[in-house]
Amino acid sequence: EKGGYDYFMLKEIAEQPKAVADTLLGRIDAEGSLTLDEVRIPASVLREADKVVIVACGTAFHAGMIAKYAIEHWTRIPCEVELASEFRYRDPILDQRTLVIAISQSGETMDTLMALRHAREQGARVLAICNTNGSTIPRESDAVLYTHAGPEVAVASTKAFLTQLVACYLVALYLGQVRGTKWGDEIRAVVRDLAKISGEVDRVLETMEPVRALARSLADKNTVLFLGRHVGYPVALEGALKLKELAYMHAEGFAAGELKHGPIALIEEDLPVVVVVPSPRGRSVLHDKIVSNIQEIRARGARTIVIAEEGDETVVPYADHLIRIPVTPTLLQPMVATVPLQVFACELATARGNEVDQPRNLAKSVTVE
Ligand code: F6R
Repeated sequence: EKGGYDYFMLKEIAEQPKAVADTLLGRIDAEGSLTLDEVRIPASVLREADKVVIVACGTAFHAGMIAKYAIEHWTRIPCEVELASEFRYRDPILDQRTLVIAISQSGETMDTLMALRHAREQGARVLAICNTNGSTIPRESDAVLYTHAGPEVAVASTKAFLTQLVACYLVALYLGQVRGTKWGDEIRAVVRDLAKISGEVDRVLETMEPVRALARSLADKNTVLFLGRHVGYPVALEGALKLKELAYMHAEGFAAGELKHGPIALIEEDLPVVVVVPSPRGRSVLHDKIVSNIQEIRARGARTIVIAEEGDETVVPYADHLIRIPVTPTLLQPMVATVPLQVFACELATARGNEVDQPRNLAKSVTVE
């Protein structure tokens, strides 16, 4: 049942190109427009929404953080993203014009379920992004967009995350399409890029051997830090979460701009620091700032593990280890940047003798609050 792989997690990492393609299937028409009629939220509701609030936990929360960048950029609707476990305890402001998006692989996460119940009590519409047909969260939502990742068995979420991202991009682009924003041309271009992204994920998977070797060489480290900016920041958080849950290592993700406000004090000789570098095109200001961050931490002894776009030569002098990812539009970069971090955590867990599919103290679906 593991299809020749040692662990379900390895199998599920390898299934990502298909999971991504399946989640797009039937949702983009020949003209490059999105067809999400299945969502069954009337276009009028989507047009009148004046706020989007995303609730989720763990890895799904990281997908939500990335969705916020996409939704605000393509639709200009204010978007908040909040940990489901915090949401209903702070009296959030919600009404009929709030679109709440609840993201959950299992559809049974109690924190997320309680958050969406609270939102509906306040009159908000709830759209679930979910991987499990007929589970509680989609049943209790006004509408659902299913991710088609197939069953995810390993406790650590991988293919579900990538398909959650796809679903979030679809919702963001669809909102933009329905409401008509000045980004019309960009939206059409991104839809075309999204249709190609499964092939890019596949290409990343073919180049993972050096990442595995690097992971094995770090098996006796205690701490790994992750830095990113813009959509690379949630990717850094996701890389750190995977490492905690699988390798039982101290791992932390930071927004690279925060480095000088504290975390840089952690940098010491030979500390591995993974840096997710934004594309030098598009948000080039951020790219240059992150390159300075890499120089700063390296000057203080960090061992830099740099994830950067193919063709980005500026990072080469400062990278102790360089992991290449394909060129993608800025907002889609997490689709390719996350994959090496999944492989990295899985390999480190194996090297440390941990049970990859069933990490200690964790359950696949968390049905208690
Ligand atoms: C991390 C992981 C968890 C889940 C979280 C939410 O690899 O698997 O952080 O992402 O418990 O679970 P779902 O998506 O089922 O609501």
